[in-house]
Amino acid sequence: MTAVTFTETGPGRRGDSFLSVQDLHVSFSTEDGVVKAVDGLSFEVEKGTTLGIVGESGSGKSVTNLAILGLHNSEHAEIGGEIWFEDQELVGASRGTLERLRGNRIAMIFQDPLTALSPFHTIGRQIGEVYRKHKGTSKREARDRAIEMLERVGIPNAKVRVDDYPHHFSGGMRQRVMIAMALVCDPALVIADEPTTALDVTVQAQILDLLKDLQDQMGTSIILITHDLGVVAQTAHNVLVMYAGRAVERGTVREVLGTPRHPYTWGLLSSVPRLGSSVDVPLKPVRGTPPSLLNPPPGCRFHPRCDYRNLVGPDLCSTEQPELSPERGHGDACYLTLQQKQEIHTQLMEGR
Ligand SMILES: Nc1ncnc2c1ncn2[C@@H]1O[C@H](COP(=O)(O)OP(=O)(O)OP(=O)(O)O)[C@@H](O)[C@H]1O
Ligand SMILES: [Mg+2]
Repeated sequence: MTAVTFTETGPGRRGDSFLSVQDLHVSFSTEDGVVKAVDGLSFEVEKGTTLGIVGESGSGKSVTNLAILGLHNSEHAEIGGEIWFEDQELVGASRGTLERLRGNRIAMIFQDPLTALSPFHTIGRQIGEVYRKHKGTSKREARDRAIEMLERVGIPNAKVRVDDYPHHFSGGMRQRVMIAMALVCDPALVIADEPTTALDVTVQAQILDLLKDLQDQMGTSIILITHDLGVVAQTAHNVLVMYAGRAVERGTVREVLGTPRHPYTWGLLSSVPRLGSSVDVPLKPVRGTPPSLLNPPPGCRFHPRCDYRNLVGPDLCSTEQPELSPERGHGDACYLTLQQKQEIHTQLMEGR
């Protein structure tokens, strides 16, 4: 797989989206063979909005987002396609360019703050260092900025807590510290990979509210990776549903969660309790397991698990890979007709 080719008339950056991922491929060489973790993925993020990326474990959510900034140094990973961020193409970007962007224009928040925070330095120093590195300020200014950020993310008594070490904080407070560090340079894009999975429900809601408030104040765009469709409904503007390294559905939260069109999305939605439904309605997980990415099934990758492929006619689903429509708006990669999708979804809703 070659990295990037530039042509004057090539797809390039689209006008009003400031992150545009086009035909992204990521594969890893392993002892067992080549793992195609992401295989022809395209999506866009608009300024000041949140894109929720959902999908089962192993569908390529984290790898997709690592490809934006973090995989370039891995000797086992090969990345192809284009990622346009502001005026920059990132797949072919130099190490220096990525270093300048990381923590500055693009920041990442992970599930476990302890992997991102050093246990040996105070949080004030760690937040301040990021600021100093990118903004070239004095230590004093960096410390003041760290205190300001801690106040913004709701750490009580920030002027004192700035000198504490990460282990002095509870899980929820540590996640706030990590958000303070991620936002210290006022990044244009924040990538949050399962930022609240390790937290209890109340703290999770507080952290999501905090992210939303900060987005409103600072105009930040967010990519929020999560297993949890409730989190998407609460936080995101747009949704991308991934299955086995590909996008199967895309649209606004209202479109994808309200009138989902792809059989996999139906499955995901039927495995979460419906608001207002009685608690004894049994939840139905998607049957079967995701395919091996070493040797994915031909045709639609979801077809071995799909209950509706017989409606499409012989063989199409198992031979031809359906594409997500390239236009913007609500799109899905499935051969059923729109009318079939609407009818089946209505029936599924009635059956719940
Ligand atoms: N460094 C690597 N080497 C080999 N395979 C990898 C590597 N990193 C990820 N993969 C594989 O790529 C696929 C996608 O992984 P990824 O971590 O993106 O999944 P995910 O959707 O984030 O899952 P989860 O919800 O569990 O976090 C998986 O099959 C995974 O095993
Ligand atoms: Mg992941």
